[in-house]
Amino acid sequence: MNKAVILVGGPSRATRFRPLSMHLPQPLFPVGGKPIIWHQIKALSAVKDLREIILIGFFEDFVFRSFLDRCQEEFPEIAFKYLREYSQLGTAGGFFHFRDQIMRGNPKNIFMLYTDICCSFPLNDLLSQHERHGRLGTIMVTKVERSSARLYGCVVVDYETKLAAHYVEKPETYVSDMASTGVFVFHQDIFRYMAQIMDRRANEFEHQRANERAYGRSDDNDDANDANRLRLEQDVLRQLAADKKLSAFLCTGFWRQIKSAASAVPANALYLQKALKENTSFLAAPNPEGPEIVGAVYIHPSAQVHPTARIGPNVSIHARAIVGPGVRINDSIVLDNVHIKDNAAVLHSIAGWDSRIGCWGRVEGSPVTSSDDIDEVTHAGVKVNSICILGEDVQVKDEVFIRNSIVLPHKDLASNKHNEVIM
Ligand code: GTP
Repeated sequence: MNKAVILVGGPSRATRFRPLSMHLPQPLFPVGGKPIIWHQIKALSAVKDLREIILIGFFEDFVFRSFLDRCQEEFPEIAFKYLREYSQLGTAGGFFHFRDQIMRGNPKNIFMLYTDICCSFPLNDLLSQHERHGRLGTIMVTKVERSSARLYGCVVVDYETKLAAHYVEKPETYVSDMASTGVFVFHQDIFRYMAQIMDRRANEFEHQRANERAYGRSDDNDDANDANRLRLEQDVLRQLAADKKLSAFLCTGFWRQIKSAASAVPANALYLQKALKENTSFLAAPNPEGPEIVGAVYIHPSAQVHPTARIGPNVSIHARAIVGPGVRINDSIVLDNVHIKDNAAVLHSIAGWDSRIGCWGRVEGSPVTSSDDIDEVTHAGVKVNSICILGEDVQVKDEVFIRNSIVLPHKDLASNKHNEVIM
């Protein structure tokens, strides 16, 4: 039997996802027509012998309740649970803290997935390779541009033995172009290994505290929190690699991070393209009576799209949105209750919940080229070209052009804006 843990973080994380995470926790933000973590869950549901998925985070308990109820209905053969950390314990701290609950039923292997990624998730292939090589853990890696490798956790891989020989978190100089994807699988013995790391850390903290007391400075509460924090990358993976107990599995499908709000647009496109390849009925089908559908498009059944609108490619239109006559939308996410009036255009953008775009209005961002060029909002103090984002309840008046800008919630925009962050 196998299990999975998805790390969902908490309200103080995902700051780069603002203004969209001001309305909704990042894991529940929709890409490809579904919440970000639904895609992790869907992929896990296809893993052989996987019986339970546990979300670990420090959001309040109610946050994921209705989402998990819906998952329970959709995937009845899997049990779902949300476990709340009492404080932010780091990327391995909660996993270790809840080890007794995770180990209930004696799972042989435990997947761990980050939330802030979109991926083709070849999890059965990952599991097969993990079991074949029999090491304590397997990290899924992907090949990235050599020039952007410093942004990721980098893994030096021995291709013959699949050994992850070194792990370096965001190296300053070039180490490898194999980056950690935030997808891992561990043998159940990982908890014993982590317990040894925690013991060593407890001794170090005790030693440090004794020194601080000797010099008259001590804040026991801070120390207690720090002693329970455990970072998967720096504290566990690095040591596992050094001990030759870590394998690497190369993901050859798609992968990218969902860190900034802008990165939701390429993630949306990747998942819609996947749905198109799989030929699912989930996507809008071209219909001679219109609207004109180009490529991969998702339209929620309650949305109203005028037959003269032209939608796509790579567009998601969510519940109760209204899209008027002659509207053009491509590479965008249109959230619940948005109203886009006659002849407006929404290109490379996200239109936030309850926003209005007036007649002949234009909301336009720049196409995204690579994964590392959209996570910065400004460069050298200047707003960079990127996806255009309207926060919740933004009103764009008739004929107004908003280009490459990020607009915080509840703004009325009566004049054109270009490359601005509007607060
Ligand atoms: P950055 O590039 O600095 O953001 O680091 P990273 O790519 O390693 O990501 P990060 O460590 O911030 O988070 C990876 C995943 O773990 C995300 O899904 C987070 O929501 C989640 N996460 C991060 N810290 C915690 C934590 O303390 N507790 C829990 N439960 N989840 C966490």
